[in-house]
Amino acid sequence: MHAINNKSLVSFMVSDREEGLAVYNPATQELLGYVPVSTEQEISDKVSRAHSAQKDWSKLAGKQRSEILQRWFQLIIEYQNDLAHLLTLEQGKPLAESKAEVFYGASFIEWFAEEAKRSYGETIPAPTPSKRMLTIKQPVGVACAITPWNFPIAMITRKAAPALAAGCSFIVKPSELTPLSAFAIAELAYQAGVPQDILQVVVGNSAEEVGRIFTSHPLIRKLSFTGSTRVGRILMRQSAEGIKRTSLELGGNAPFIVFDDADIDAAVEGAIASKFRNAGQTCICANRFYVHSKVYDEFIAKFDTAVNQLKLGNGLEEGVNIGPLITPQAKQNIEALIESALKQGAKKVSTQKPQKGQFLLPVILRDVTQSMDIVSQEIFGPVAPVIAFENEQQLIGMANDTIHGLAAYFFTNNISRVWKVAEALEYGMVGINDSMISSEVAPFGGIKQSGIGREGARQGMDEYMDIKYLCFGGL
Ligand code: SIN
Repeated sequence: MHAINNKSLVSFMVSDREEGLAVYNPATQELLGYVPVSTEQEISDKVSRAHSAQKDWSKLAGKQRSEILQRWFQLIIEYQNDLAHLLTLEQGKPLAESKAEVFYGASFIEWFAEEAKRSYGETIPAPTPSKRMLTIKQPVGVACAITPWNFPIAMITRKAAPALAAGCSFIVKPSELTPLSAFAIAELAYQAGVPQDILQVVVGNSAEEVGRIFTSHPLIRKLSFTGSTRVGRILMRQSAEGIKRTSLELGGNAPFIVFDDADIDAAVEGAIASKFRNAGQTCICANRFYVHSKVYDEFIAKFDTAVNQLKLGNGLEEGVNIGPLITPQAKQNIEALIESALKQGAKKVSTQKPQKGQFLLPVILRDVTQSMDIVSQEIFGPVAPVIAFENEQQLIGMANDTIHGLAAYFFTNNISRVWKVAEALEYGMVGINDSMISSEVAPFGGIKQSGIGREGARQGMDEYMDIKYLCFGGL
């Protein structure tokens, strides 16, 4: 393995210079280090440099950009252990999940390295003999992104790789809670040959300030955001003034449905994987469970047995499945939702001892009803509210009763039900007898107030390209 300046990637990133933004470990609250903070003027200068550099970058052949992205992919794989370690330090997720995220993040770079060679336009049969018509695709220009703390690597590469493949320059503001991984993967991109002005990481004085610059700067043509629906609305409103293109991957409230004809063991396995990945801190994780009344008790008993085997702790420790929540505030919000559900009549399936620090043991709630706050709100934590249902029509009504439309899951062995329910669910992504749906080859994104646009897949690069129509006359 290379070392950067003869240091491991972790020690390279975790500088002890006491200036800039301090980054803490959510498992131990220890200070990890600092990252540089840019002023408004410095960010504006970075945008100007990104704008100038983009001209040359877009002139490279797709194959040349592809080769650079391939090298970036290779370097991330080479540094997988360092990156995973850094990710667990600043984000808290178990090391095995961090490794999975490094691969998941790298997969977008590999995928879009291939797609860089395939940004096809089309020829259009003209309506008159004297004309020829066709389209070409061109990069939008400077693209910027605001990314969240729950997947500090993958949510950046899922945006940066298509942007760079398309020929855009790209500026990202990572979450202030997890910026170290962002600077680390950017460092590897530079080693791979990505010019420094083509990929930039910025942290500003505040998230609001950077959001305002990104949405108002005249040289920025595109904003991609992953985060809450509330912030997405603000950024979309701000982007309206300059008619900037936006891609928004926002909050979810995924229903996880178990029909009475489902394989209950498979449903429990799917439920564990979806609900407790990243301690329940994902936009697509199961937020509310709907289980047919005939299998309600059986599902809860098996789910509870599986949940009781999960080990909570510092993600660096062997065998840990659930790490800390990202902040003390996150823990308080989730505890308040549990309290309110209990007051409204829900019951805990097992009794948990209170945990210190930012840790929260998984909770299953039974006797939950549709009107409870915990059902309408995004929990973003290891809590599984379970509602009983009687029939398909009632179920579809409850499952779609939300402003969100990101992901949904259902388990059944009835093939005709598979099609009917898949079509009736108002969500951008539906897992059928499967809860691990994320992949670089499939379009990730939501409908309703869960967002606009798709990431990954062949559609992902179109978000960073304009279609230009060429009409040849007088032939
Ligand atoms: C998210 O839902 O927060 C992203 C998860 C993923 O890409 O799998």
